[in-house]
Amino acid sequence: MLDLLLRNCTLPDGRSGMDLGVEEGRIAALQPRLQAQAAQEIDCAGQLLSPPFVDAHFHMDSTLSYGQPRVNQSGTLLEGIALWGELKPTLTQDALIERALAYCDWAVAKGLLAIRSHVDVCDDRLLAVEALLQVREQVRPYLDLQLVAFPQDGLLRSANALRNLQRALDLGVDVVGGIPHFERTAEQGAESVRLLCELAAARGLRVDLHCDESDDPLSRHIETLAFHTQRLGLHGRVVGSHLTSLHSMDNYYASKLMPLMAESGVAAIANPLINITLQGRHDTYPKRRGMTRVPELLAAGVPVAFGQDCVMDPWYAGGSGDMLEVAHMGLHVAQMTGQAAMRQCFDAVTTTPARLLGLEDYGLDVGCRADLVLLQAGDPVEAIRLRATRLLVIRGGKIVAATPAANARLYLPGRPAAVDWRRT
Ligand code: FE2
Repeated sequence: MLDLLLRNCTLPDGRSGMDLGVEEGRIAALQPRLQAQAAQEIDCAGQLLSPPFVDAHFHMDSTLSYGQPRVNQSGTLLEGIALWGELKPTLTQDALIERALAYCDWAVAKGLLAIRSHVDVCDDRLLAVEALLQVREQVRPYLDLQLVAFPQDGLLRSANALRNLQRALDLGVDVVGGIPHFERTAEQGAESVRLLCELAAARGLRVDLHCDESDDPLSRHIETLAFHTQRLGLHGRVVGSHLTSLHSMDNYYASKLMPLMAESGVAAIANPLINITLQGRHDTYPKRRGMTRVPELLAAGVPVAFGQDCVMDPWYAGGSGDMLEVAHMGLHVAQMTGQAAMRQCFDAVTTTPARLLGLEDYGLDVGCRADLVLLQAGDPVEAIRLRATRLLVIRGGKIVAATPAANARLYLPGRPAAVDWRRT
């Protein structure tokens, strides 16, 4: 007797008419016309059943703080950092926890069940670290929250950042972060990369650096990150987040760099919504898009995930935890319009970040944890096109969120009464 049986699902790989059975929180069977009884049976009517969305790059300590204490006037990354610096001394643990939990509710409703969030460690009180560690435990039943110790004001540029970062790791923060392009000089940036990679190697941790988030084509810390990854044997455990300078780099240099990244096993995380709005602010026209070279990285064999990065904070006024909106923007900015490329954009918010975060038991194989999202779409491309409704969100075999199907009624003479946006 199964706990849950989902009938007639379509899977992201194109298989249709599939039945998925859940037992004790795990996928117990996945096949057409499953002969089984279940405590609860749901007819999925051919809709797309996917593993949940995963956000590889977020800032949960600043989320939902938009407008406090004021709005970013220039729209630049640097004013955002300055604004966050104004807000930091006024933060309270209660407010941090309240905003983070509110965002996690949004995430679950959108089928986003795993988030890697950076947390600023440049406040000697480590207020945000303690708040998010508490949130990580509180949401664990329904959302995997992975934390990155992030020295927002620079590991070497900010007085106690290195010590605070180590304290945060001692407290249980999961991943080593950094921001080499914000250090005082390129040399200090390179030195911060060396220190952080050695720290991660010594502690057996993963690395995720904000790296080269700039329009400056000479911001080349990703080269140093790939070098130390190789040197220290950190293959598969390191990502460069943003890498926006790669957008502006000389093509010859980029053609040497990307194979080096692939060789060292460094992955990339682009943040399409944020990159397209923060970068290019010093340009007149033509105005650069500022997102890293996603299709070219993929072609070179570098895994690329898409992150949300910011939702209603000093850097960005928009967002809602909708990873299909992120994939939609990534598809457009990178001009990934071929069928295979559009599917890669879906992978960039599901399977690829799951791999980069090291999520165990993620996926649709028998034995995986029954974390699932049922989308009002026929395939991944349609899901992105429609930013499809999350009909059901399931965690460990239990329904944790449901949204009614998006349907409109027409009141036009001679026309059918209902609109159906699906075309698959
Ligand atoms: Fe970020």
